[in-house]
Order: sequence, then structure tokens, then C-alpha cells
Amino acid sequence: MSFGLGHGRELVPGAAGVEMSALPPLPDAATVEAARAQLAFDPRAWFAEPSRRFEIEIGSGKGTFLLQQAVLEPNTNFLGIEWAGEFWAYAADRVRRVGLTNVKVLRGDATDFLRGRTPDAIASVIHLYFSDPWPKSRHHKRRVVQDHTLREFHRVLCPQGELRIVTDHDELWQWDVEHVDRAQELFERRDFARPASAGEGELVGTNFERKFRREGRPFHAMTLVKR
Ligand SMILES: C[S@@+](CC[C@H](N)C(=O)[O-])C[C@H]1O[C@@H](n2cnc3c(N)ncnc32)[C@H](O)[C@@H]1O
Repeated sequence: MSFGLGHGRELVPGAAGVEMSALPPLPDAATVEAARAQLAFDPRAWFAEPSRRFEIEIGSGKGTFLLQQAVLEPNTNFLGIEWAGEFWAYAADRVRRVGLTNVKVLRGDATDFLRGRTPDAIASVIHLYFSDPWPKSRHHKRRVVQDHTLREFHRVLCPQGELRIVTDHDELWQWDVEHVDRAQELFERRDFARPASAGEGELVGTNFERKFRREGRPFHAMTLVKR
């Protein structure tokens, strides 16, 4: 199915787009931890200046947050992870055309990538904005926030690193809060601090926030700081 995002124009991810399917296979190790320990690469190496501060956005959609924030923070490297191919191509095409070298967009499942491929303590912030709510009970296991993913985010974050969550979805928010309450030894919950790129009256300024704001929906937001 095509969403027609390119409006007839070919989307060219170029060097801004990385495909998870193109990564070398994981070593044949007995555990994920052992496989990860044998990894030959670190995603920060995809950037021209790998030693810079590093932030990850899970489910970057059309890439609006990445583009807005990366312009204001040229000394931070941003990795968006998006599993929907057309949205990945659209976001990477935007990054390529603007010429931002501090943004990459990875096509793949963010939770798989963070679990199996990402070294410890590399990200200063993990952004999770308007994550898919998967309202049916049988689909709840597809929600990004789970007990095991919170442990993974904690591992991937630097000391004092932050997981920032915004959603419009009341039931997903309840789910997130329940999981966060169970993970109090991992994270301290704080108020959400708007990024500098958010427009007036906005929390973050993603495409979904703008769409939901026009519909008059209320939002929930929190920041979790790694203990
Ligand atoms: C509701 S959209 C929000 C997009 C964007 N964050 C925004 O606020 O405009 C959620 C996005 O997350 C992506 N997504 C959901 N689960 C994902 C996962 N596990 N890995 C990568 N992308 C995911 C979906 O394909 C979709 O583009």
C-alpha cells in the first residue's frame, strides 16, 4: 500500500537512509547479550562526527521532529528509526535534500535494533512521540513500551540519559504509566521539557501532534531520567 507521500516524485533516501536488512547478520551466539558483545559496529559510526552527543527517535514517521531539532542542535547526531518503508524513505529523502549530516534514518524495528544491535550507554535521549496505540488486547505486545523494552532503553541510555514520551492516547498513557511505575528502580519520572524546536503552544511539534491538536485532543507527556 502506498500513502502517496512523494506526490509522484521519487523518494531518494541517499546517504541519510540506512536499512536494517543491509546490516551484517548477528553472530551465531547463544544469547542476545553475547551477540551484542560481538558486534563489530556502533550506530554512532554512521555519522561524520561519531563522538558527538547521540539521540534516538523511535517511530520517526515523516521525520519532522528530527529535521526541526537537528537544525537547532548541529553538534548532536540524531538517529530516527522507522519500520514503515514509505515513511522511512520520505524522512530520509527530506534529510538528504536539506543536506543535514547529523541525521540518519534507519528502516527497521526499533525494539529489535536496540535489543540486538545497540551497545550500552550510547544515547543521551530516546524520543518516543505518538507511538502507535495498538488498541486491541491481542496487539498490546506490539506496543513499544514493555517491561523488557524499558530495561533495554535503560541499558542504551548514558548515565542521566532521558526517555521522553508524548501521546494523545489515554489508554496507551495508562499502559505506559503502569510500566513506568514497575520500573522505578530504573527511571525517575519528571515533567516533560519541550524541545527548543517545538512551536508556540506545542509540546514537540511532530506531524501527529499537529494533526491531533487540530482535532482538539489533549496530550500526556513525561520524561524518565535514567537512575
Ligand atoms: C503514530 S506514528 C507517529 C509518527 C511521529 N512520531 C509523529 O509524531 O508524527 C508512529 C510511527 O511509529 C512507527 N513505528 C511503530 N512501532 C515501531 C517500531 N517498533 N520500530 C520502528 N518504527 C515503529 C510507525 O510506523 C509510525 O510511523
